[in-house]
Amino acid sequence: MHSGDTPPEILRAQLHELADWIADFREGMEKFPVAPNEKPGAIRAALPAQPPEHGESFDKILADINRIIVPGMVHWSHPMFLGYFGWTSTAPGLLGEILTAPLNVNAMTWRTSPAATELETVVVDWLRQWMGLPNEFGGVVYDTASVGVMHALAVAREEAAPETRKRGLTGRDLPRFRIYTSDQAHSSAEKAAIALGLGEENVRRVPSDEQFRMNMSILREFIAQDRQSGLRPLAVIATVGTTSTASVDPIPEIAKICREEKLWLHIDGAYGGGFSMLPEYKWIAEGWNEADSIVINPHKTLYVPLDFSVLYVRDLERLRRVFTLVPEYLRGDTVEAEKNYMDYGIQLGRRFRALKAWVIWRSLGREKIEAFMREHLRLAKLFADWIKSDKRFELSAPVSMGVVCFRFIDKIDNDKIDMVNSEIVEGVNASGRAYLTQTKLNGRTVMRVGLGNVLTTESHLRKAWELIQSTASGL
Ligand SMILES: Cc1ncc(COP(=O)(O)O)c(C=O)c1O
Repeated sequence: MHSGDTPPEILRAQLHELADWIADFREGMEKFPVAPNEKPGAIRAALPAQPPEHGESFDKILADINRIIVPGMVHWSHPMFLGYFGWTSTAPGLLGEILTAPLNVNAMTWRTSPAATELETVVVDWLRQWMGLPNEFGGVVYDTASVGVMHALAVAREEAAPETRKRGLTGRDLPRFRIYTSDQAHSSAEKAAIALGLGEENVRRVPSDEQFRMNMSILREFIAQDRQSGLRPLAVIATVGTTSTASVDPIPEIAKICREEKLWLHIDGAYGGGFSMLPEYKWIAEGWNEADSIVINPHKTLYVPLDFSVLYVRDLERLRRVFTLVPEYLRGDTVEAEKNYMDYGIQLGRRFRALKAWVIWRSLGREKIEAFMREHLRLAKLFADWIKSDKRFELSAPVSMGVVCFRFIDKIDNDKIDMVNSEIVEGVNASGRAYLTQTKLNGRTVMRVGLGNVLTTESHLRKAWELIQSTASGL
């Protein structure tokens, strides 16, 4: 036995082996079923329950990855994976992710990671420029949009109830704060309210119109009702690209209401925000300038591998004021002249996420990113056309981005349609040949396809459509 790490020549050989493994995996992706057909617990049963007493060879570990882990995966990067929002796995993204591993730095302060800190500032600003946001917006990278909205609402809370950071919410004479978001918005609104002690019940879901956009007169009504009842409206969360249908709330009107009512405006552009890069999609960014905060997930639309989410705040100092806290053991590593990203959230230790974004965005450039996005939009429209031309199916929502919601309605009793549509999704997924998801719109179950994977071509989509048709016919 030797002390220390694996000898360099062995590591080199393992890395070569791993490089081949990764290239083979990506090249041979289509030979895997998109989703496994395992019963819950089967994978755990194949793994030793006891932690290892002695070290094992990399070969042995890799063999188990091939034997147990890979077959137990839903392959999100598979071209026939059409669940959620498609997937942003690309070869340059992979390289960026791999390059991050040997550096293994902690991007908590400038001094502990000067390049990670400054690169984060650079890529966040690139994205700001692509989104067309004015430079009064500053950003920070988090893992997810859920974490982003929680931080945004923490600032809203602090500004509405000064000193909450210091004194907390309880034992003070504070009103009940209310947050408004549409019935189509993501559940991260409630999660944030739970974490911040604002209370899940204080997120009011505003009904949406027939295009799944927040209804403005009901929003006004809710705010007025709450004020009358002595409650304090705090924030509106507007969505650009809702989770079920990718609908876009009327941001300019919401911004006007927020201005009049002095409410924090958070824009959840987790999925849809990225499309504002396209000149033909500039309409989705109308009113963003008036937001207090905006979240965008480049790991959903802008080809950065999971996880990478950016929260922009108009005047980032507002966020810093709420979260800066420098204990003595970090003081020596704190340089005031530069950003210390630990000051912009609850995390101290932070991955070097900016590197993979920098690698992928440099590799693709604006041109290629736009071309990829346009192709996904084309495929979504094409898929919608196929649905429209088969009378046994109907489109369930307008197609505005890379998401298509639809139902099978042929000769089925109305009360069975939901069950049948769920069964089609389950049948397709169990086949291992494609993967879809389902959601509910107006209380009815619909099937849902998300496009966004650079490996998905028209011929893959055609195969998925034929599989959906034949699964539906077979029921
Ligand atoms: C509109 C919207 N907002 C927020 C989220 C949450 O994203 P994250 O998984 O990054 O927390 C999602 C996830 O799909 C979403 O669709």
